[in-house]
This record gives sequence, structure tokens and C-alpha cells, in this order.
Amino acid sequence: MAEKRNALVTGGSRGIGKAIVEELLSEGCNVWYLSRSEGEAASLKEKAASLGNTLTWVACDMADRSSVQEAVERVIQEAKSLDILVNNAGITRDGLIMRMKDEAWDEVLAVNLTGAFLTSRRIARLMAGQRRGSIINISSVVGIMGNGGQSNYAASKAGLIGFSKSLARELSSRNVRVNVVAPGFIQTAMTDVLPEALKESLNTQIPLSRIGEAQEVAHAVAFLASEKASYITGQVLAVDGGMAM
Ligand SMILES: NC(=O)c1ccc[n+]([C@@H]2O[C@H](COP(=O)([O-])OP(=O)(O)OC[C@H]3O[C@@H](n4cnc5c(N)ncnc54)[C@H](O)[C@@H]3O)[C@@H](O)[C@H]2O)c1
Repeated sequence: MAEKRNALVTGGSRGIGKAIVEELLSEGCNVWYLSRSEGEAASLKEKAASLGNTLTWVACDMADRSSVQEAVERVIQEAKSLDILVNNAGITRDGLIMRMKDEAWDEVLAVNLTGAFLTSRRIARLMAGQRRGSIINISSVVGIMGNGGQSNYAASKAGLIGFSKSLARELSSRNVRVNVVAPGFIQTAMTDVLPEALKESLNTQIPLSRIGEAQEVAHAVAFLASEKASYITGQVLAVDGGMAM
């Protein structure tokens, strides 16, 4: 039987993060996830147990530096080694640039970009010492294409791409791979709030003519995390029904 891997997922409580937690459990990983509340992923505990894996929630506010640092230290103490880090936690605070408040800019950058910096800085040290590891950052097609009303979000997601390519170069000699998954329009709480008319018009911009499922993003993450992707680093894999090509 393949050796168990340890994985840490930020923002794993629901949506895409929860689907990633579930997929990694199915792939034989022990999974730790960080979020402010235990959330819907608590329902995966039975599945984890039936697979012989552990699932652990660690309370964390990704917008608070000391909270992130404490949570990551706790995970490292429990897990001892980590094979996979998925920086998934993300928020939107949309608005046109001329009306965008400082808080909307700061909060989005704090959770989406600084949060990933803080987890990666600590875990890169651990993975470099282990001489193995895979880091996957969840960006967005908006980080590639831009989107009116989302300059803060697009900046954070484009920032994640440059950040990831830089880490991929820094960590390659230690056998640590760093890649990006850029989802398109995926059915979750984040997109449920969009007006129906906007959802319909978005559909016409997607070559595969449908909204994606969280699980479809999770499949790409599990692939990049696996040995099947052993020669892939510094890449951006869009899971978007062809939207950003
Ligand atoms: N849904 C989409 O269409 C879509 C498209 C592209 C990219 N994404 C990205 O995918 C990721 C997941 O999005 P989702 O659609 O599942 O959204 P979601 O709102 O359903 O889930 C976001 C997750 O992040 C966590 N989170 C948010 N703020 C946090 C904080 N301060 N501290 C700790 N955890 C926090 C939440 O608890 C939740 O688990 C995000 O990075 C998002 O930007 C989503």
C-alpha cells in the first residue's frame, strides 16, 4: 500500500476547499484544514475514518498574521511532515475602483495573498528540509483576464501567480513543486450570490457552456499534488471550461 501523505488545506470548510479536502482524503491523505469555523467539512469525518485517514480542523483567521502562524505551527507539531499545501482560502469584496474602500482592498489582499505568503513561508522551510513537497495555490481566471469591479480580487489572484512561479524557481532544487490552479466560474457560495442575469451572460462566455463543479477543481489539485505530476512545476492550470484561453 502507498505511504500515507499529509496535506494542509486553507479555507477547507466549504465550497472548493471542502471538495479538495474530500478528494485528498480519497487519495489516501491525512488532512488538516484551516478556517474560522469547522463548517460543512465536519461531515467528512466519517468518510476519513472509514478510509483510515485523519481529518483535523484547526481554527484560523487567514486575515490575522498571528492566527495563521499559530495554526500552521500546530499542524506541523501534529503532522510532523507535510507533503501537500493547498492555499485555497479566498474572499471577494467587489466594487468599482473609484468607490473602492481601503478596507475592501486590504481585506482581500490579506486573506488571498498575504495568507498564502504566511503559510508558504513556514511550510517551504519544512518541505525544503524533507526534500519533497507540493504547493498548490488557488488563483482564478480573473487573475489572468482581469474583471471590472474586481480589481482587488484580480490583483490578489494575479499576485498569487507571480508568487507561485517565484517559489517554483526557489524551491525546485529541494524537490518541492509549486503550481497554480485557476478556476473559472464554479458553483459555490461565492458565486451563488451573483444575479441570475449575470450568471446567464457568464455562461455564454464559457466554451463548455456550463458552470463548473467544485469537484472538478479538486481533481486538478489532486493531480498536481500527486507523483503523476512529478515533472510539473511553475504552471497555471485553468479549470474553467475554456473561459480564459
Ligand atoms: N467559486 C468560484 O467561481 C471561484 C472561481 C475562481 C477562484 N475561486 C477561488 O477558490 C477558492 C475557494 O472559493 P469558494 O468558491 O469555495 O468560496 P467559498 O466562499 O465557498 O469558500 C471560501 C473558503 O475560504 C475560507 N475563508 C474565507 N475567509 C477566511 C478567513 N479570513 N480565514 C479563514 N478562512 C477563510 C472560508 O471559510 C471557506 O472555507 C477561493 O480562493 C476563490 O477565490 C473560486
